[in-house]
Amino acid sequence: MLTSVTTSTPDQWAVLQNNLADIAGRHPGVVFASSLGVEDMLLAHAIFDAGLPIEVFTLDTGRLHAETLALVERIHERYGVTVNMVRPDPVVVKRHVDEHGAFAFYESIELRKACCGLRKVEPLRRILRGRPAWITGQRREQSLTRTELAEAEFDEVFGLQKYNPLAGWSLEQVWESVRARDIPYNPLHDQGYPSIGCEPCTRAIRPDEDVRAGRWWWEQKLSRECGLHAKN
Ligand code: ADX
Ligand code: SF4
Repeated sequence: MLTSVTTSTPDQWAVLQNNLADIAGRHPGVVFASSLGVEDMLLAHAIFDAGLPIEVFTLDTGRLHAETLALVERIHERYGVTVNMVRPDPVVVKRHVDEHGAFAFYESIELRKACCGLRKVEPLRRILRGRPAWITGQRREQSLTRTELAEAEFDEVFGLQKYNPLAGWSLEQVWESVRARDIPYNPLHDQGYPSIGCEPCTRAIRPDEDVRAGRWWWEQKLSRECGLHAKN
């Protein structure tokens, strides 16, 4: 049974690890999608610390920051775990870049979604095929498109169970927990990047902006999702 976490309590960590253990027990073969952002480093630590049989993968779009990629090595050093780097089909990427250019995502929502589609969504579909469930680090607070996020839901698009165990966590709770456990994180978070995606599609934010203001900042707020979480 999943338990909702809305306030910071000493039990919060234990509840999270129990939830993850419960998910792993009920869905052998479950995978965790890590963007290597701070929420996902927290989840990764919870999984590795408890030795849970949950495989971790990252969608390596080919446009991630060097700082993000460096975390893969830090995870290996700290936990002895190799993150599965899932990459897009190079032929499809080349065709898209030849036809539209390497920065076509700035030109229109359609071209931006096409890029996310081939660099993120298709590889995600591939890694999720045949899996019973997947886990993400999404939180309700992150965006207007995530206010209704459930901790457990059926993912109609990819056809499997989906868990968002940090749905009710605040950003402060995440950081409190990360600092208390000295969990490695992306140094870009300390340089004005609360939410980190691909390098050309992420900018630093000002203190008065919301946490996802730096993602696809040239688009309207409600279009700023890449298709990984279609329900949003
Ligand atoms: S996004 O849809 O806008 O890119 P966001 O960066 O907020 O998503 O991350 C939300 C969750 O989506 C992450 O916690 C993670 O589970 C998943 N996710 C996002 N990007 C990736 C990625 N490159 N690889 C694996 N999972 C990802
Ligand atoms: Fe392409 Fe930008 Fe989407 Fe990354 S975030 S897949 S570079 S459009």
